[in-house]
Amino acid sequence: MTHYNRRAVLAGGGAFLAAQLTGCAQTSMVHNAGRLRETRIGGMPITLTAQERPLTLPGASGSTPLWLYGEGLFPVYRLHLGESIDATLVNRLKEHTSVHWHGVRGPNAMDGVPYVTQMPVQPGESFAYRFTPPDPGTFFFHPHCNTVEQLGRGLVGILIVDDEAGGFDDDVVFVLKDWRVDDNGGFLPFITAEGAGRGGTFGTLRTVNGQAAPEVAVPANANIRVRLLNVDATRVSEIGVQGAEARVIAIDGNGFDGFVLDTWRFGPAMRLDLELRTPSEGGKVVLTDYFAQEPVTLATLVATGSAPPSRGTAAVLTPPRLAAADMAKAEMHELKLSASAKASEYPNLPPIVLPDGRKIDLLDSLCSTTRTLWAIDGTPWPQNGHQHLPPPLMTLARGTTVRLRLTNTTPHVHPMHVHGHTFKVLSASKLKRPEHWADTVLVLPEERVEIAFVADNPGNWMIHCHIIEHQDTGMMGWFRVV
Ligand code: C2O
Ligand code: CU
Repeated sequence: MTHYNRRAVLAGGGAFLAAQLTGCAQTSMVHNAGRLRETRIGGMPITLTAQERPLTLPGASGSTPLWLYGEGLFPVYRLHLGESIDATLVNRLKEHTSVHWHGVRGPNAMDGVPYVTQMPVQPGESFAYRFTPPDPGTFFFHPHCNTVEQLGRGLVGILIVDDEAGGFDDDVVFVLKDWRVDDNGGFLPFITAEGAGRGGTFGTLRTVNGQAAPEVAVPANANIRVRLLNVDATRVSEIGVQGAEARVIAIDGNGFDGFVLDTWRFGPAMRLDLELRTPSEGGKVVLTDYFAQEPVTLATLVATGSAPPSRGTAAVLTPPRLAAADMAKAEMHELKLSASAKASEYPNLPPIVLPDGRKIDLLDSLCSTTRTLWAIDGTPWPQNGHQHLPPPLMTLARGTTVRLRLTNTTPHVHPMHVHGHTFKVLSASKLKRPEHWADTVLVLPEERVEIAFVADNPGNWMIHCHIIEHQDTGMMGWFRVV
């Protein structure tokens, strides 16, 4: 592994673009600078109105026609474990959409996958998502159709389910997302043939909370929690922290007793919760991406105020209450991640039954672009010409422990995400990782990663790459829990 000069990074931390998004009210008070606006929903109904809202991104000379769920970028909704969500999606876009609650082990009917768990929400229509998240943690939500454009334009929100393990002196949310924009703020094509067929098409503007390397004030000498979310469609970062020792206390929202962060390979859709002790007044803690040759400063925490700390001990989060895997009886499945030679035909398939009982056998669109480049187990998610879902990759009896080997036969990394279930990452042939719970796992080029979970959530669930161009060009499938 390359050695970086961390001191040099810290020393260079003075010049920041305190670029603020204009046109939204998220940062009115000084101590809120760099932070996202948060709403505690506490059982109250909320409305997510998907619509175009132009805002000026940092460094752009003009506004960008973003698609957002609210007034500002990345609305953060918080609730306590046990409280329910009652969120109505109102579609004011010119195309259909839906909301998928990434990482939440909710009921299948609320999973937000068009044609698989619900009919798409057409322009002018609305859909009510009602469920109670079973686990505490850091989650997010996003559309699940034409995602490369809808997510690319900013349609993403954050969901935080608090448990009692809190008690941190501060809790900071950092959302990492790049934008494909030109100097005037106009969007560049979200998908390119070169990108889709390789590692994905990268953004031209990197932001954290919609800002370029924001500085965020935090209490000095305090024990704080930092929640990182990578909602970018493409970029894999290598996260490190300078100026404080950080402990990883949750991965994809799943708390555990933690370990000291060296660096962490952080792909699209992954979340990382850190605990760190802030320095004394004026000290800085720099969040850095070491993936490229030149480290990139993502955000800086600036210790302010001289108030004594309210607590000094390390936090241990409650682990998720997940069914214990019975590895002795586990059913072994292997899924090969590959390039697609050609889309196969799927004749005589039974109709798909939506969770509300409706049957659909003719699909007007399967939410895929016009060609397939990638496949899971030799089956690319079909292109528009196909009228049926492909067969399920696995059919699992409810309660079965599944041991799933993900074998990457391609020269590209794939962050693989499983819907409706939280899995344990058991082993990997390349990138060393401690055993941990997750909903998204990186599978490096030519790597073999083994995960396991108990298939205890009935329904039709997606499994796909979260490099959205790969997903949209075929690297997606589904499995059934009956
Ligand atoms: Cu965050 Cu199916 O995705
Ligand atoms: Cu991929």
